[in-house]
Amino acid sequence: MLSREENDLITRVGPGTPMGELMRRYWIPALLSQEIPRPDCPPVRVRLLGEDLVAFRDSKGRLGVLAEHCSHRGTSLYFGRNEECGLTCIYHGWKYDIEGRVLKTPAEPAGSTLKDKVRHTAYLCSEAAGVVFAYMGPKERIPLFPNYEWTTLPQDHLYVTKSLQDCNYLQGLEGESDSSHLSFLHRAFTEKNRGGGDPDMYGKDGAPRLEGVETDFGVRMISCRSAGNGLTYLRVSNFVMPCHGFVPTGGLKGNAEGYTVHSHVPVDDEHAMRFNIFFRRNRPVNDEEKQLEGGIGSDHLKVRNIHNNYLQDREEQKRETFTGMGKQFLIHDSCATESMGPIYDRSREHLGAGDITVIAVRKFLLQSIRTLDTGKEPPHIIRSPEQNDLRHVACIVARIDAGLDPKQYIEKLLADQKHYTTV
Ligand code: FES
Ligand SMILES: [Fe+2]
Repeated sequence: MLSREENDLITRVGPGTPMGELMRRYWIPALLSQEIPRPDCPPVRVRLLGEDLVAFRDSKGRLGVLAEHCSHRGTSLYFGRNEECGLTCIYHGWKYDIEGRVLKTPAEPAGSTLKDKVRHTAYLCSEAAGVVFAYMGPKERIPLFPNYEWTTLPQDHLYVTKSLQDCNYLQGLEGESDSSHLSFLHRAFTEKNRGGGDPDMYGKDGAPRLEGVETDFGVRMISCRSAGNGLTYLRVSNFVMPCHGFVPTGGLKGNAEGYTVHSHVPVDDEHAMRFNIFFRRNRPVNDEEKQLEGGIGSDHLKVRNIHNNYLQDREEQKRETFTGMGKQFLIHDSCATESMGPIYDRSREHLGAGDITVIAVRKFLLQSIRTLDTGKEPPHIIRSPEQNDLRHVACIVARIDAGLDPKQYIEKLLADQKHYTTV
């Protein structure tokens, strides 16, 4: 349970809020590269951390993220002309470059210096894995771009989507930190040959033993389920600062091939964008895998959503899938987290042993807010190339001897330079 004050502190993300300031210290996913695929293509609207922005790719292919409203008198730059290395407002022709410099104010008399006095809000961008990331914090504090293993893969080894979530980012992020829901919400995947996991993994034991271990990047989340025959099913996923879940996908076999990143990026206090970054280390992603990540329309809205009750089928629920909402993780998760309401009041909840890792993630976030508040740098701000080796953000699925200490097992793997297991 959180107090009302803590709940406000951890969920509010607008400019000037403690959590908003914390989020602004990191590179965060802003949009998909495919939304602005070519130089001089139309700009797109992006709302991030409560700020209305437009993103565009200039004539040289450089990315820009600008405040949406023109610095002159506020017309939306979404309607602007993207040409000759800048975005031009259609009202009086003010033209901006990717860094927010005003290049032209053609309605002013010759010799006017007005353009030199105005600097439009612009954020730095970096592109990796088919995602445009933005940094919205103080310019003098820009961290290195994190070198996660999936940021350097060929594009066909990745499948990246985004979908709007009708709730605060933390509700989605807590879902990443909650291994116990797999046995219920995602039960549709526990039977053999259904894809997405191993039947033993969360089908046999619905009450995993959970542990959250604080690390330099966030929280390593360990869950252990009895797999019978003196074996334990071990699952390691991660909360990575400031809003990412790195989760194993595809069960024991899939573990060697890659994992999935779910980023819950705050759009504003009551909405989030869930970026799904699915990758396979050594091969292209196939159609079946894309289907598992599917369910999203070309407008990045979910086909099954809270407004149509996720097209729940009560007969299917009785017979087949537990939820009655088909077999897409995204839809199950969205229903569970959006139906809590736009910002869940955590002073009303009743937590148990199945919520240990959720508690650990909240604690880590609140601690990080306090760290920043005292003038120190929060965790996982990367400053040096040596620090930018992030293989220890390992996602692991393994069947281990029930007598083994899972933490020792994980530490041994990492010490041997292994960040996943092979079966
Ligand atoms: S409002 Fe944009 S140029 Fe005047
Ligand atoms: Fe889930």
